[in-house]
Amino acid sequence: MQIRFLGHACFHMEIDGYKLLFDPFISPNELASEIDIESIEADFILLSHGHQDHIHDAETIAKRCNAKIISNYEVVTWYGKLGIEGHPMNHGGSWEFDFGKVKMVNAVHSSSFPDGSYAGNPAGFVISNQNHCFYFAGDTALTLDMQLLPMTSPKLDFALLPIGDNFTMGYEDAILASDFIDCTRIIPFHYDTFGYIQVDKEKVKTAFESRGKEITFLEIGESVKI
Ligand code: NI
Ligand code: MN
Repeated sequence: MQIRFLGHACFHMEIDGYKLLFDPFISPNELASEIDIESIEADFILLSHGHQDHIHDAETIAKRCNAKIISNYEVVTWYGKLGIEGHPMNHGGSWEFDFGKVKMVNAVHSSSFPDGSYAGNPAGFVISNQNHCFYFAGDTALTLDMQLLPMTSPKLDFALLPIGDNFTMGYEDAILASDFIDCTRIIPFHYDTFGYIQVDKEKVKTAFESRGKEITFLEIGESVKI
């Protein structure tokens, strides 16, 4: 499968012919000014929670691509009112989509829409099919709930974890998180976009490597094949 980092918490993935987009916040992100949202194709848009820095471009891209939103009930209902199709889920539930199984798992954070209205509870996703299994944590603190993942999901190939601190866990907690989820291959997100979440990448890399983990910082627009 192919994974492309589009800045902040946004990833585009091609999984067995299906295009998935996670938490699109591209057009307001100065660091992602090279990315043209008109060029992004998606069959499904997965939204971890309702904050602006995770949903900003979801409406535009969903409408152009006729993509389906996968998120919690409240977020999917919100987009339904805008005429966008969706698949509502809630924590602990799984659903078999054509690209694989999605399980909505706990995240410790908050969730509201940019206008302040209720956007349900924040979540992460575990996605698995016969070829792949990975975890997109969404915005979250380190939480013991992560220890449930190895008991309830296939072995993870890799995990996407926030590391920027202040609004989510920082990199030291993310190292513990990678122990909790029993995963050694990490792709980080939610760093450097704003002043509050600047990281020293070399320091983070060294810390992960000293604990036997592989962390891959992707440049915005860069893709990796896994
Ligand atoms: Ni957030
Ligand atoms: Mn965020």
